[in-house]
Amino acid sequence: MSELNFNPLVEDPVKLKTLSRRRFFGLAGGAAASVALIPGVGSSESQAAVAVSDLNALPKAPAPDDERAWEEVASQFLLRDGLIYMNTGTRGPSPRYVHERQVEALEGVNSDYLGYSRHVANADFTKALRQKLADFVGVDSNEVALMNNTTDGMITGTWGPVLEPGDEIVYTNHDHVGGTHPILHRVNRDHLNLKVVDIADRKFHPPRSADDYLKAFEAALTPRSKLLSFCHVNYTDGGILPVKEICEMARARGVLTIVDGAQPPGMMKLDLHELGCDMYAGPFHKWMMSSMYTGFFYVREDVQERIEAILTITPPGKNMYGGTELASFWDDYMGSAAKYELRGSTNTPARMAMDAALDYHNHLTPQAIEARDRYLAAKLRNGLRAISGVDVYVSDDPRLSCGLVSFTIEGVATTDLNDMVWERHNIYIRNVTHKEVDWDVNRASMHIMVTAAQVDTLLGAIEEIAKG
Ligand SMILES: Cc1ncc(COP(=O)(O)O)c(C=O)c1O
Repeated sequence: MSELNFNPLVEDPVKLKTLSRRRFFGLAGGAAASVALIPGVGSSESQAAVAVSDLNALPKAPAPDDERAWEEVASQFLLRDGLIYMNTGTRGPSPRYVHERQVEALEGVNSDYLGYSRHVANADFTKALRQKLADFVGVDSNEVALMNNTTDGMITGTWGPVLEPGDEIVYTNHDHVGGTHPILHRVNRDHLNLKVVDIADRKFHPPRSADDYLKAFEAALTPRSKLLSFCHVNYTDGGILPVKEICEMARARGVLTIVDGAQPPGMMKLDLHELGCDMYAGPFHKWMMSSMYTGFFYVREDVQERIEAILTITPPGKNMYGGTELASFWDDYMGSAAKYELRGSTNTPARMAMDAALDYHNHLTPQAIEARDRYLAAKLRNGLRAISGVDVYVSDDPRLSCGLVSFTIEGVATTDLNDMVWERHNIYIRNVTHKEVDWDVNRASMHIMVTAAQVDTLLGAIEEIAKG
């Protein structure tokens, strides 16, 4: 086993780094064997044959309709044989490359924590990871914090701004509890006002134009509004909101913006500076397909002073003994978004999986992945619209939708539909149900573990069920 993993006897940091990056699945089959022990997982011959230890063995930026290339990509997932996975919007399983890097790191920390954290998962690694992440989302490295999920960022951004009683926080009625519930807590405790943007109306399903969204936001803001929270992509219906226009409008009125970016990272190429929001919280465990419990939080450099790091152990200007001298350890955290990170020990293998996921996406390229997701989603939307009795709630306009497709079959309960496609075809989709705003749909996520043939299987299943 020690042959395959991090070797504590190697003291040369360069060698250690090289060793740590060796794909040990490929070397002697140790971890590959452990994967095969899980019944039905990674056990098929085809999966064994395509085990990837080298990203360069994967196609580079395939065209959206290059089925052969994308099938090769899809075959790299550890998904159980026959499972058709269409719920990346909740959790994106890691492709083999990312999985291997995470397992490798887990073995590193368990075989020699000290050596591994000194030579591999050290401060340089963390800085490089922030830089790679920042490049990926189009910002500067001092503007991103490594977090555990979207909710982490939403909580931090909600409690961070200084607000006075009577100030108003605004959110939409298609937001997620990860964003709304921290707001409800703060509103209650600090005697703030709450305002809700109504985007539940039928005219948003599918939305006719981005302008309809913008008008709804404009109408909701008041002179007391101080913080506006909304989703970049609604998890409920899959609609893309016009973030840039909404943030411009909010900034002109002196309102801070926090965007719930749970869905776009890994699905859409991101340029957060271009979007112009003040804060953006995203996960790495959904469309980025990194480990569970990974994410990031972006805060624009020029608003960081106004967003306090109150949920961390970052020193508030002085040390625990009252002095203003701070240990050099804090240099990496003070004066940048990294100040939002520190809440005790972290999960090193998960951080390594973030790094691997970035490499993975950069290899396939975010543009190619987005184009593939859009291609599959268009195929699904078109197929669904052609089935009598099926309603689709996302737009065909690429500015208004991407990889999430929401739909219903008339007369079929959404939970029953989940069960039917699962029991009959091993297809995993979900429902999103919020009766309070008359919302109850099925939702399918189109990402790169899905093949065009699988979309046809789903369409066939829906047609059969719609016919009764
Ligand atoms: C829009 C939205 N916000 C927040 C969340 C919560 O995300 P996380 O689990 O990364 O905190 C989700 C999860 O599905 C979501 O879809």
